[in-house]
Amino acid sequence: MERKAGSARVRAMIILGIETSCDETAAAVVTADRRILSNVVLSQLDEHRPYGGVVPEIAARAHLDHIDRLVAEAMEQAGIGFGDLSAVAATGGPGLIGGVIVGVMTAKAIAAVHGKPFLAVNHLEGHALTARLTDDVAFPYLLLLVSGGHCQLLLVEGVGRYSLLGSTIDDAVGEAFDKTAKMLGLSYPGGPALERAARGGDPARFALPRPMAGRPGCDFSFSGLKTAVRHMVEKMHRPLSEKNRADLAASFQAAVCDSMAGRARNALRGLSRSHPEVRTMVVAGGVAANQTIRAALTELCAEFDYRFVAPPMALCTDNAAMIAWAGLERFRLGQADTLDFAPRPRWPLDPNAISAQIRATAQ
Ligand code: KG4
Ligand code: ZN
Repeated sequence: MERKAGSARVRAMIILGIETSCDETAAAVVTADRRILSNVVLSQLDEHRPYGGVVPEIAARAHLDHIDRLVAEAMEQAGIGFGDLSAVAATGGPGLIGGVIVGVMTAKAIAAVHGKPFLAVNHLEGHALTARLTDDVAFPYLLLLVSGGHCQLLLVEGVGRYSLLGSTIDDAVGEAFDKTAKMLGLSYPGGPALERAARGGDPARFALPRPMAGRPGCDFSFSGLKTAVRHMVEKMHRPLSEKNRADLAASFQAAVCDSMAGRARNALRGLSRSHPEVRTMVVAGGVAANQTIRAALTELCAEFDYRFVAPPMALCTDNAAMIAWAGLERFRLGQADTLDFAPRPRWPLDPNAISAQIRATAQ
């Protein structure tokens, strides 16, 4: 049972969140009445750009270099001292383990020194619950989580109650954007660059496959699409002309869009029968920044008479406000973790699901 945030004690709750699981070092302070008092994010893009992707060792060192300053900044902007906190939350996984260790150790130290409870938050739970912070969305809802590392459809029925409806059997959608952008000679990170390149392009010029089209279920696949683009690029004169690049980018984006909307449509159809009480679809993760994808999902939700919620971009991509909020949701239900919590490189939201990814890699 969810305890209602009615009492003054619960309303006054205030939590520091720390996020270090990938290439953003972040700290934020959030209150139970949904106020973000501070939200500081330091992107390591420049450190990783020469390598065309995130280098775990570089990421861990950068987190270590910056985390103390970022926490101090978040506390100062919030105008509070450590003594004012109700608890301290940090991403406990899944993610690049070196970075996760930095965040967890920092949060544990603050919690131990100031005698505050500590919460290890599942990074995916942070994404999953963001729409409750930004838009006060009530349970249950359908979540489409689309980022560089994840591509999942989940039914969110409560804090800690997640059912995996589908996930990618190969690449995450953001990963497909990044790799395809690289093939097209676009800069890192590829998603935003590819979206920009696609703007002037013809999405119908190249006939690319729509992965999983017509197949039952909600799993995703993007590696075939990526390979199809590679074969086209190999047949073209390189470096690609401006026109070829734009048309390929637009055609790829259209194929991703159709494929994603198709899988989400299957989820909505299934839920209409099994869970008619679900009336909201929430999108989260960096790929949710893509306007073409947002438009397709908006249209899909209108068709099923669903409310479509897309949190503001700064809260869709990795940040610490979502970690503070997820920690707060758990804390006000009476939950906390002990200081011997061990960071987890893998941590599925739905431990009961034998995910498509595990099935695929086990073959
Ligand atoms: O959630 P996020 O900031 O980090 C994690 O992966 O956890 O997502 C980053 C991913 C990258 O793969 C990036 O290329 C993709 O989101 N992305 C986009 C766009 N903006 C970011 N993909 C497509 N279109 C965009 N506008
Ligand atoms: Zn993320």
